[in-house]
Amino acid sequence: MHWPFCLSKCPYCDFNSHVRHAAIDETRFANAFAREIETTAARVPGRMVSSIFLGGGTPSLMKPATVGAILDAIGKAWSVDRNVEVTLEANPTSVEATRFAGYRAAGVNRVSLGVQALDDASLQALGRLHTAKEALDAVAIARRAFDRYSFDLIYARPQQSVEAWRRELTMAISEAAEHLSLYQLTIEPETPFHGLHAAGKLAIPDETLARALYDVTQEVCAAHGLPAYEISNHARPGAECRHNLVYWRGNEYAGIGPGAHGRLDIDGVRRATATDRRPEAWVMRVEEGGHGLTVDDALTRDECADEYLLMGLRLTEGIDPERYRLLAGRPLDPRRVENLRAEGTIAIAGDGRLRVTQSGFPLLDAVVADLAA
Ligand SMILES: C[S@@+](CC[C@H](N)C(=O)[O-])C[C@H]1O[C@@H](n2cnc3c(N)ncnc32)[C@H](O)[C@@H]1O
Ligand code: SF4
Repeated sequence: MHWPFCLSKCPYCDFNSHVRHAAIDETRFANAFAREIETTAARVPGRMVSSIFLGGGTPSLMKPATVGAILDAIGKAWSVDRNVEVTLEANPTSVEATRFAGYRAAGVNRVSLGVQALDDASLQALGRLHTAKEALDAVAIARRAFDRYSFDLIYARPQQSVEAWRRELTMAISEAAEHLSLYQLTIEPETPFHGLHAAGKLAIPDETLARALYDVTQEVCAAHGLPAYEISNHARPGAECRHNLVYWRGNEYAGIGPGAHGRLDIDGVRRATATDRRPEAWVMRVEEGGHGLTVDDALTRDECADEYLLMGLRLTEGIDPERYRLLAGRPLDPRRVENLRAEGTIAIAGDGRLRVTQSGFPLLDAVVADLAA
């Protein structure tokens, strides 16, 4: 479920997020979510919902009643697992933290907080609207309101040293319970950071320093019982985000809301869906036609197989080469597999699963491109 609004646009971010100065008509949006959920369920009926992710944008700008209406619509459209994981992405400001109890009452049972950094100078440089203290206060409120919570940090920030990141990460781990998402800063096209970087006004760590920052991330997290289960995600064993695993294991998911992507299996064919990214245009499309789809494509065997590699190799558990063979209609090229294995970038486990090694992870894109060639 994609909620596409933010209070302001962070200069590094290229997510589908929009700033509106007038109040958002949440009832109208909630009705459109309910309608698109109903239309989607008619295409993929009889499914059991195992996880729900309210992402954004900034879903913590929604009133708890809006979240409740969306969750009710899901419960009407499909069966929902008794142990369903319901995550809401929240910005860690004091205003938003006051809504946590309401979200919990509406059915949310996990929050993911965008803390980003634990020092005020970095937060300001990232254009964030909260201080480090406010973020840690929000984490403490999340801890009391929810059994499960996670927070995000961005590293490889301008001027960040390995030692400073080691200290910041160690402090973050002492505040984290079971899960942390640690993203290396990416300069995304068409963001203000991209313009500054291109103009030589934003110096970010070079490849060697970025690699050292990545290595210290793995070392510190593993030493504190939060090993990586995915290239940017760390959890105590058993506390992985079940929703993220759906994407990376190549399972089925519905994408509802402006700019949401889905993968639906209909009549034995996997379909890739995407909706209109523009919030108001999406609402109008849903009101007129019941859905906001702008993409609804059947994927070819090769596309399904490539996607399985691309997503599955992000996980430390890796992929099942047999599933790849079934999807692609041919096995992985044994010579390419052997070359990568000899180089030490991939490993094959006793049960046959193929995974990228820790030293191979920084080269993930190249490994995927090689295996998919
Ligand atoms: C949709 S946002 C999170 C929710 C919320 N809007 C917030 O900012 O706190 C998802 C996460 O992606 C990460 N992210 C966004 N842009 C990034 C970039 N250019 N490089 C690295 N991480 C990025 C941030 O850590 C962010 O918390
Ligand atoms: S990082 Fe979060 S708050 Fe900032 S623009 Fe992106 S989605 Fe919005």
